[in-house]
Amino acid sequence: MVHSLRARLLLWLLLPLAAFVLVAGGVSYDAARQTANLLQDSALLASARTIIEDVDWDNGALIATIPPAALELFESPYQDQVFYKVLAGKGRLLVGAPDLPAPPAGLALPAWYDSRYAGMPIRAVAYERLLYDSGHAERVTVIVGKTMASRQAMIDVLWRPQLLRQGLMLALVMLLVPLGLTLELRPLMRLKDDVADREPTQLEPIRPDHLPSELRPIVDAINQCIARLKVHASTQRQFIADAAHQLRTPLTLLATQTQFASQCDARDPALFAALKGVHRTSQKMAELTSQLLLLAQAESMASPGVATRVSLAAVLSSVLEELIQAAQHRDIDLGAELDERVSVAGNAGLIASLASNLIDNAIRYTQRGGSVTALCRREGDEAVLQVIDNGPGIPAEARAHVFERFYRVANDTEGTGLGLAIVHQVARSHGGSVTIASGAARVGLIVTVRLPLWRE
Ligand SMILES: Nc1ncnc2c1ncn2[C@@H]1O[C@H](COP(=O)(O)OP(=O)(O)O)[C@@H](O)[C@H]1O
Ligand SMILES: [Mg+2]
Repeated sequence: MVHSLRARLLLWLLLPLAAFVLVAGGVSYDAARQTANLLQDSALLASARTIIEDVDWDNGALIATIPPAALELFESPYQDQVFYKVLAGKGRLLVGAPDLPAPPAGLALPAWYDSRYAGMPIRAVAYERLLYDSGHAERVTVIVGKTMASRQAMIDVLWRPQLLRQGLMLALVMLLVPLGLTLELRPLMRLKDDVADREPTQLEPIRPDHLPSELRPIVDAINQCIARLKVHASTQRQFIADAAHQLRTPLTLLATQTQFASQCDARDPALFAALKGVHRTSQKMAELTSQLLLLAQAESMASPGVATRVSLAAVLSSVLEELIQAAQHRDIDLGAELDERVSVAGNAGLIASLASNLIDNAIRYTQRGGSVTALCRREGDEAVLQVIDNGPGIPAEARAHVFERFYRVANDTEGTGLGLAIVHQVARSHGGSVTIASGAARVGLIVTVRLPLWRE
């Protein structure tokens, strides 16, 4: 059984209604039948009376003629057949059909009864009267019967409109109630969409306005759950941030200490090489730690609502300044095309780490003598930040994976594999996107970041 609220509500409504229509139909059929019987019976009696009025004495003997008015009573478009007989005394036939059935014995007259005649069901009445003639009296009995066609027609006429009305009501309910239920259940669907479409970091409570009161307790419960998740997530985040921060200090210390040690005792070349190794490893760990910290920060940036205005040109200039030495070191021509007017809403530190990771990659992976250009501009209602190089690019089959954490295309260079994951996460948490493409003539790499423009 499907647990559809809609289907169940519909069932609760339609079942009683159908039962009601059924019972009401039966009751109204009964009423129509009684009315038809009453009318038919009184017509039969009137006819019998008219016949008996015309029974008369003639020279001491009873004679009966059937007045036309007695039969005209039954005229109808339904072609009912009418039968009659008139009996005198104890069964002497005066006129009519001799074998028309008499009423069942023991009935007080006038008596109405159902019977069969000439192979057809009939309704009949037996009526009697004492007729006097100069001190002499005789009992005269009139029996009038007729077939049932007009009675059935009358029942139909009386009953059909009722049936029609109730059928119409049922049809209307079956049509309108599902529609109403669909409309009324829309808040539930909206609530579902609201919960289903959420980003994992979007831990705002659901706004309960416009929700029917029946949904409030559910929304309250979900909101309480969200609040607990939020506390949990922020504790978790704080822990990662604290851990990364705590790790940084001893790592920096370790780097300084190994450098110092390698200067103190340079006589043993083996020891010197080992210390150099320790130094490199500690530097790598420091980088990894700070990248992890950045990623955690980007992931935890819940709502850009609390963001400040960040000028892309300013961020890019300071990042380029920091990296100019690395570029010179590798003989790379570092250029920029910056539109000063482009601003986005967000966290300046995170956007700087996005830019720094992209430019660092471009410098790092482009061959000596290559060129790297960083640019920012406005396109429609988006801010576009691009880093273009003429290096080896990223093979198409690897592009789907480069945004994954710790994914590296080649392992022969230094790196953590977290750079593009940070870029992706920062762009996403700012409501933007990153795409990568190869440059003109399939040379180099173009990384494009699109972010929503700053709005006052
Ligand atoms: N500009 C680029 N040119 C060529 N390859 C690149 C470029 N940027 C990134 N890559 C490739 O993508 C991989 C993932 O980059 P990233 O996430 O920054 O990690 P990392 O730089 O620490 O290796 C790199 O290992 C590199 O192979
Ligand atoms: Mg990198």
